[in-house]
Amino acid sequence: MADLDDVQETKNYYTDVPQETEGFFLKGSNSYDWGMKNRLSRIFNPRSGKTVMLAFDHGYFQGPTTGLERIDLNIVPLAPYADTLMLTRGILRSNIPPSLTNSIVMRASGGPSILKELSNEDIAVSIEDSIRLNAAAMAVQVFIGGENESQSVLNMTKLVDQGTRYGIPTLAVTAVGKDMVRDAKYFRLATRMCAELGAHYVKTYYVEEGFDTVTSCCPVPIVIAGGKKLPELDALKMAYNAIQQGAAGVDMGRNIFQSEAPIAMIQAVRAVVHDNETPDKALDLYNTLRTS
Ligand code: 5RP
Repeated sequence: MADLDDVQETKNYYTDVPQETEGFFLKGSNSYDWGMKNRLSRIFNPRSGKTVMLAFDHGYFQGPTTGLERIDLNIVPLAPYADTLMLTRGILRSNIPPSLTNSIVMRASGGPSILKELSNEDIAVSIEDSIRLNAAAMAVQVFIGGENESQSVLNMTKLVDQGTRYGIPTLAVTAVGKDMVRDAKYFRLATRMCAELGAHYVKTYYVEEGFDTVTSCCPVPIVIAGGKKLPELDALKMAYNAIQQGAAGVDMGRNIFQSEAPIAMIQAVRAVVHDNETPDKALDLYNTLRTS
């Protein structure tokens, strides 16, 4: 039976303090439901508003590329320095300890290998499996101007519909075909289309000319892919310029895991992304960490 003798009466109702309703920190994301915002807050650090996603999903179309031969040895030691791991469900189940608390962005599209037409993708993971694996977001390739443009756009819109049902955001990854011009005009088109059709955030490439116009007219956050391996200073400059021009983070793979010192490199990238460190200072950090 409930003990009624010792119940203390609540006295302070703080009637003079209005309850605050805070705005959500992420661009264009204020109208989402609680679960969606909470998942996005596990990808983007609410303190800086930015993310360092470590991308190692490349095997889903190109097999064990350089640096990804052994995920357990090459990648798992980097996880403590990443906000988010972007990977396939096969690697998640086989190689990633469930005790790691990084948020997971699940590669959810696939089909063709590098031997075939890459734009011929389909949705390759059910929404149930993404939920089962505790994904914070699902990633889908979108080939604007590619041979299977509409198919890939509709893959994205289907994932957006499925994910919205359960509060899981969709990351649209703009994929550039071999013959396409990688310039701001193209990326304005590709990123804006993805956002208009429902993507919760968009991954694209940095361009030297006019990247700020790409971020400014995309109504949701943009993260940049690293692309091919560059000298460390150049990769840090690219990340720095992208952040200064409005990117909300990086989704970087080869420039981290193919670096001579991946653990030092990911920490240098973090300094640029989360602390606005300059590329030269971040390189100093890289050099200090790699020799310590
Ligand atoms: C593959 C991807 C990769 O995750 C992406 O390309 C990021 O890796 P990198 O920095 O090596 O380019 O989306 O399609």
